[in-house]
This record gives sequence, C-alpha cells and structure tokens, in this order.
Amino acid sequence: MARAAGSADHMPSMSCEILTVDPEAPEAMPIARAAAVLRAGGLVAFPTETVYGLGANALDAGAVAKIFAAKGRPSTNPIIVHVPDAATACTLAADWPTEAGALAARFWPGPLTLVLSRSAVVPDIVTAGGPTVAVRVPAHPVAQALLRAVAFPLAAPSANRSTRLSPTRAEHVLRDLGDRIDLLLDAGSTPGGLESTVLDVTTEPPRLLRPGLITPAQLVEVIGSVEPAASDGGDKPRRSPGLLDKHYAPQTPLELLPDGRQRVEALAAQGLRVGWVTRAIDDGVATGAVITLPMPQDAKAYAARLYAVLHNLDREQLDRIVVDLPPDTTEWLAVQDRLRRAAGPPPETLPPEHA
Ligand code: TXA
Ligand code: MG
Repeated sequence: MARAAGSADHMPSMSCEILTVDPEAPEAMPIARAAAVLRAGGLVAFPTETVYGLGANALDAGAVAKIFAAKGRPSTNPIIVHVPDAATACTLAADWPTEAGALAARFWPGPLTLVLSRSAVVPDIVTAGGPTVAVRVPAHPVAQALLRAVAFPLAAPSANRSTRLSPTRAEHVLRDLGDRIDLLLDAGSTPGGLESTVLDVTTEPPRLLRPGLITPAQLVEVIGSVEPAASDGGDKPRRSPGLLDKHYAPQTPLELLPDGRQRVEALAAQGLRVGWVTRAIDDGVATGAVITLPMPQDAKAYAARLYAVLHNLDREQLDRIVVDLPPDTTEWLAVQDRLRRAAGPPPETLPPEHA
C-alpha cells in the first residue's frame, strides 16, 4: 500500500504534518494529535471508507470557513457533517423521518449520506444557508476514532480542490492540498474508492441526489421507493451542487466511449499521448504513445481503483484519457455517474469557445 513515508521521491512540496495511522486499529497518538488540531479550529484530512475527507469542527463557523478557502469551494455548496452514530445524527436534525431511522439502522456506519431538515445548532456556513443538512456516519475505524476523540461533529467534504478528483490515497491529498491544511492522517488507500450515496429524506419518496456505493436497489429494499437522481439537463432547480456537470474531473481531457479502442488508435496516429482505461484486456501495456490500464470486471473492484488510476494518468501529462463506458446496469450507476462528470458535458452543450 502506498504510504507517505515510503514514497518520498514522488511527494510534492508540502507544509502539513503527516501522521501514519493503522487503518484497522488506529493508534492513540496520531488520533489525539489530530483531535487537538481540530479542537483548535484547524483542518485535518482523514480517511473514510469512501475517500479522504477534509475535516473541521462542524459547530465552529470559523473552522468550516477554512475548508471553503482551502478547497476553493463556492459558498453555495453545502458540506456533509460526519458523526459517530445515528443518535448524534438526530441532534443535528429538526425532524427524523421513519425512513431515516430504517436506513440508519441498515446502512450506518457506512457510505450513505442522509439529507435532513437542519436543527438550529448547525451553522449556516455548513448548509450554505439552506434548510437542510447532510449527515453521515462513516465506517472507517480512523474516522470513527477521530469522531469519538473530538466529541463534536466534523464537517468534511472530499479532500481535494473544488471540481477535481476525490483522493483515495494520502499522496492525492498532499498533491492538491498539502500546503493548505494542518494535518493529514495517512492510513493508506481508502477501500470504497467512490463517494457516499446522497439521499434526500425530506421529500416523499426520498430522492437520490448522488449515486454512490450504496445502490438504489439496496435503498428500495429498506424504504420501498426512491426517486431517481435528477438529470442535469432539464430546468429543474439543482438540489445538490455535486450534481454540477463538470466535477470529479482529472485535469487531462477525458473522453468516454462504448469501446475506445479505435479512438485510442486514431489519437495515437495523430501523434497524441493517450491513456486508455478499459475492461477489454487483461494486461497493462505501454506501447509508444498509449498507456493501457486494464480495469476489473467487477463494479465494486472497479470503483475502488478508478480514482487512483485517473490520478496516476493525470501525472503522466497525457494529451487525452479515453475510458470505455462500463455496462448500463444499476450496479455500475455510481461509476457511470462519476465518469460522465469527469468527461464533462458533451461539446454541443458548451458555449462555442469551450467546444
Ligand atoms: O463519501 C463522501 O461523501 C465523502 C467523504 C469524505 O465523506 N464526502 C464527500 O463530500 O464526497 P463532498 O462535499 O465532496 O460532496 C458532498 C455532496 C456535494 O455534492 C454536496 O453538494 C452535497 O453532498 N450536499 C451536502 N450537503 C447537502 C445538502 N444539505 N443538501 C443537498 N446536498 C448536499
Ligand atoms: Mg467532493
């Protein structure tokens, strides 16, 4: 597993404190040190079972403001609040619908975020001034240990600069935010690899705002029905800024195609350097202008690896990344969603200067 200490050659310049922590049995010292930084109003990047989060005391508006500044995040984009258990989640909500109770019992701790009516204790800056608050109970032992050590909720978006790829390894956090945060808890790769499912339970039926590691079928099993994620194209008001078209994106232009092979060959023939992310072949090959990244056939394994692959390709300074579109089935929904956002809107929807 890639650790900060073991990969000093490839480390970008940074000024934050980095503490290695055991992902299964977090040691007391790094957790106590991170908790002290958070108590003093600082920023700590920490692993969750999905991606690394950038945490601050959710009840301290000044500390949360530092998150927005570090990420370059628009103040209109609300932040998920992390708590150690469902009982604490209740204290942040004005209302606790039956569905919330059932979903919490089934999926918490785990990669499900519930959007609830906010209670007065939640600062405006966390909710972007809106009437709701997004809450989740992370399962990662390091996140759990940290939440229990601080005894206050942690506001934590993914630990990347706004619109970029989420980090699944400590080195991804350092590259994006190393000079903008106080401390990083390095517990190696995050197991899930994609962000949590975001479900709004203030509406009837509850509405999927962001597909994630918990699938719609799993939600339906518990609460009977779920309204699908709104498409971005229509004139419906956006309910979750994470649904913005261009998001979760590498810096290299990315194209998404049912089968990229011909496109990759054509681009290479034009003299461009191309990364090809594909499930069609078993062995990685770097032939001349093309780097081929073989991906797992299984959706969960694919999700766990995707961001690390895109982060790595981004460092190769390629002209283009081509990704084969995975199957159009619900188990691939979250992967498809992130790949579409990484590719951005189709050219015809962009103003001419961007096309
Ligand atoms: O897996 C995850 O959810 C990670 C880890 C660190 O917990 N966090 C994460 O946070 O992905 P972030 O900020 O990168 O994405 C949170 C998404 C955004 O799309 C945001 O707009 C939406 O949740 N969100 C937050 N609060 C909301 C609210 N009150 N109503 C609707 N959407 C909300
Ligand atoms: Mg994010």
